[in-house]
Amino acid sequence: MSNIVLIGGSYGIGRAIAEAQAAKGHAVWVASRSMDDPITGVDHIHFDALSESPDFTHFPSEIDALLYCPGSINLRPFGSLKEDAFRKDMEINFFSMVRTVQGLLSHVKNASSPSIVLFSTVAVQTGLPFHTSIAAAKGAVEGFTRALAAEMAPKVRVNCIAPSLTDTPLASKLTANEKSKDASAQRHPLKRIGTAEDIANAADFLINDTSSWMTGQVLHVDGGMGSVQI
Ligand SMILES: NC(=O)c1ccc[n+]([C@@H]2O[C@H](COP(=O)([O-])OP(=O)(O)OC[C@H]3O[C@@H](n4cnc5c(N)ncnc54)[C@H](OP(=O)(O)O)[C@@H]3O)[C@@H](O)[C@H]2O)c1
Repeated sequence: MSNIVLIGGSYGIGRAIAEAQAAKGHAVWVASRSMDDPITGVDHIHFDALSESPDFTHFPSEIDALLYCPGSINLRPFGSLKEDAFRKDMEINFFSMVRTVQGLLSHVKNASSPSIVLFSTVAVQTGLPFHTSIAAAKGAVEGFTRALAAEMAPKVRVNCIAPSLTDTPLASKLTANEKSKDASAQRHPLKRIGTAEDIANAADFLINDTSSWMTGQVLHVDGGMGSVQI
């Protein structure tokens, strides 16, 4: 049994990961600002990653897998994006992640073969209009992933998942309307948008010993969007 900590997991991709890992019998903690619909067998820690001095006292002292899920989708033409929008995207996707990973690193190092999983986006690999802010913030996450993986090897593996559009509350503005949802599906070589379970399966692989020879990788779980043109 492993100790799995998710920053974010009250809904969205993190929740699908928490449910899958709890069902496998692991000890799972979800650290988020809310937990309206508790998950059986999963502990909730009230936690705000945006806080400048987060409270790390309630986390387990040994963490086998740490996953940071908070993110943003702020799609606008570059000309109308204020500098503050770039800062906000950097704050939740990058700086809050850095603060959290730093705060919990000693807990991660206490485990025997630990792993960290971060989240990027297909928009780093593939240039997409209106994505300058999120692509920049997640680009920082990808660079951080590789550098930290180098620094932590061989003790801690650090990998990243880069999804394309996935049906979660974060993407609700893009998926609420059936017509635009279908148009998004058709833009993907595999002709559908992602589900939280698609991404949870990739996370399961990365936190599992089946990926024990992988570190510093960005796993593209994106319906082919980042690498295939048809
Ligand atoms: N969905 C997509 O289409 C898509 C595409 C590409 C990349 N991604 C990336 O994949 C990751 C997961 O996305 P998602 O769609 O599952 O997002 P989501 O539906 O917004 O879920 C985010 C989770 O993070 C928590 N969270 C948000 N802000 C937080 C904070 N300040 N402190 C602690 N917890 C916080 C939320 O819980 P509380 O509100 O309760 O705190 C929630 O559990 C993100 O990094 C996102 O950028 C998603």
